[in-house]
Amino acid sequence: MRTLWKGTLYLAAAAVLLSGCKKDDEDPPAPTPSNPTPTIYQRLGGTTMVNDPANPGTMIEQGYLGLRSVVDSTIFVIAGDAQLQPYFAVLLAEVGSGDLTGFAALSENLTEFFAVATGAQNFTYSGMNMVDAHNSANPRMTGLVTDADFDQFIVDLVAGAAQNNVPSAIVTDIGALVETLRDPVVQQ
Ligand code: HEM
Repeated sequence: MRTLWKGTLYLAAAAVLLSGCKKDDEDPPAPTPSNPTPTIYQRLGGTTMVNDPANPGTMIEQGYLGLRSVVDSTIFVIAGDAQLQPYFAVLLAEVGSGDLTGFAALSENLTEFFAVATGAQNFTYSGMNMVDAHNSANPRMTGLVTDADFDQFIVDLVAGAAQNNVPSAIVTDIGALVETLRDPVVQQ
């Protein structure tokens, strides 16, 4: 009987030890140089090639497609947002008359900007720098952005991301990235 009791104790101790080991095994591996934290771009699908729904027969990086979808949705959200519409007067007048060239250029510039900023390796941003893009150096920009309107831009960006079912953890990280650009964009 005593041996049985001792055996039970040993078993219980072993179970505690094992459960301790198991917990460690379940923790996510700590980032190391060979296992770095994935970038936002990688978390959106990265360089995995997928069909481009906007250009049948063409492949596109999934990360780029994810960002472009969010950008395009966000431009549409902004187009319907009375608070931000005045800044985009040039663009909205063009679109209203059926000219989508400015929309296509803005979509590409914004997507390339976010692709580079989120960690894409196979794209470059060739548009204006963030200061010039948001003052009178940009003839397509009407007025100077206020802090309140920058906040509203983030609200619209979150709405654009939600329309594309971007996971909330990624939206949070994109929001933090955008926040780092408040200083050059808000110039008054
Ligand atoms: C971090 C946030 C932002 C980023 C990353 C960003 C980025 C850009 C980029 C890349 C362009 C195109 C530049 C080019 O054509 O070379 C642009 C243009 C523009 N941005 Fe922003 N922007 C931001 C916030 C804002 C805000 C808050 C507003 C106004 C509320 C705004 C209004 C505009 C306008 C009106 C244009 C010109 C659009 C056109 O081409 O017709 N942006 N922005």
